[in-house]
Amino acid sequence: MLSAIMPGFGCLYSRHSRRSGGNIRSSYPVQEQVRSIHAPFSVPFVHRLRFTRDAFAAENHTLDEVVREGTGRSPRVIVFFDRAVSEAWPGIATAARAYAASHGWEVPPIETLPGGEESKNDPAVLEQALRAIHDAKIDRQSFVIAVGGGAVLDVVGYAAAIAHRGVRLVRLPTTTLSQADSGVGVKNGINAFGKKNYLGTFSPPWAVVNDEALLATLSDRDWRCGFAEALKVGLVKDAVLFESIEKAAARIQRRDETAALPVIRESAELHLRHITEGGDPFELISARPLDFGHWAAHKLEQMTDFQLRHGEAVAIGLALDTTYSVKIGLLDPLEGERVLHCLSELGFRLYDEAMADSDTLLAGLDEFCEHLGGALTLAMLRGIGNSVDIHEIEPRCARESIEHLAQRG
Ligand SMILES: NC(=O)c1ccc[n+]([C@@H]2O[C@H](COP(=O)([O-])OP(=O)(O)OC[C@H]3O[C@@H](n4cnc5c(N)ncnc54)[C@H](O)[C@@H]3O)[C@@H](O)[C@H]2O)c1
Ligand SMILES: [Zn+2]
Repeated sequence: MLSAIMPGFGCLYSRHSRRSGGNIRSSYPVQEQVRSIHAPFSVPFVHRLRFTRDAFAAENHTLDEVVREGTGRSPRVIVFFDRAVSEAWPGIATAARAYAASHGWEVPPIETLPGGEESKNDPAVLEQALRAIHDAKIDRQSFVIAVGGGAVLDVVGYAAAIAHRGVRLVRLPTTTLSQADSGVGVKNGINAFGKKNYLGTFSPPWAVVNDEALLATLSDRDWRCGFAEALKVGLVKDAVLFESIEKAAARIQRRDETAALPVIRESAELHLRHITEGGDPFELISARPLDFGHWAAHKLEQMTDFQLRHGEAVAIGLALDTTYSVKIGLLDPLEGERVLHCLSELGFRLYDEAMADSDTLLAGLDEFCEHLGGALTLAMLRGIGNSVDIHEIEPRCARESIEHLAQRG
């Protein structure tokens, strides 16, 4: 009578017979059959990541090749630009149209969206993206190409994921942060109810094309942001990456591309490998090492009304959780100091005045837990390149860690 689920036998089902209780109406069948089907299945995904320069130059076939992999017909696309990118690169929309024409694509409509976190806070931006996808008659064999920072990629990615229940998305990240981290991620979304990324989906992109030439027009502030995420992935997964950032920190801050671009590439590859090989691409279990430092980061973004950039908030979150790891005796204080020093060398502040309200900041732990579901699970450091999950935070040590950063300034 019990169902038997035997590995390797695909779809099995069983029949249970349930005896009725004593007070069931007499017209009800005495015995009821319940079918139970348990059929695990998997769907293969491919992650396509390309590094290039001048992706819309006529002689660069990178974009055309990834798009052609997905369709036998003349590719139909719509291109969304982050406004800051189309302003910093005035010829880029024309180049995209010319590229489409010379590669035999249906000439795409070009849309421009406001850049930055505001695009995730204002539902009108999502609406604009959805309407444009609708009006361009994008179907499930067509492509949405999003060119921009992490915020524009998130909102366009969300629109692409829900239009027709999911159309193909090619991300062309244009910030250090989106090239080092979010571009290869499988998440998208917008902020709602005052919470970061409250609405969104897990949907792997069709392809990610990192155009390194576009980074030249970033402000110094946005240039710096990606290295917080690169440092994060080094801290939890790869001491060699951490050490290469540590050695090159001053050159990275001076925007020396020979020092910076290898770090961005390595970070993107580590993030990608975590998704493709880590066994939990859609984050169904609570352990999320790549969210190191993020409980505080997300709360600080919200507490500062998004005046702190995501990367700046992550840098503070890394400093806080590194200090906490030392305070609870997990991490050697000398290693903790190396992390804080490296963040400062990259040009990050390790404290924001909003942190004086430590009660509100620490409430971010509950929100983070609610977002993940299940028990609180946070990555902490027991060495550089070596993280461990913990399930509770000692409030006194957390407050002392905040105080430590306040005094350091
Ligand atoms: N989906 C994910 O897995 C994931 C992961 C990490 C971060 N994120 C999200 O990414 C966002 C942060 O992304 P970000 O750091 O790229 O910031 P951003 O998208 O806010 O961009 C920063 C600023 O740079 C401008 N900009 C973008 N490219 C430019 C260029 N080439 N030249 C000049 N200006 C340019 C933008 O318009 C914006 O004003 C946050 O919303 C964060 O939550 C998502
Ligand atoms: Zn992040």
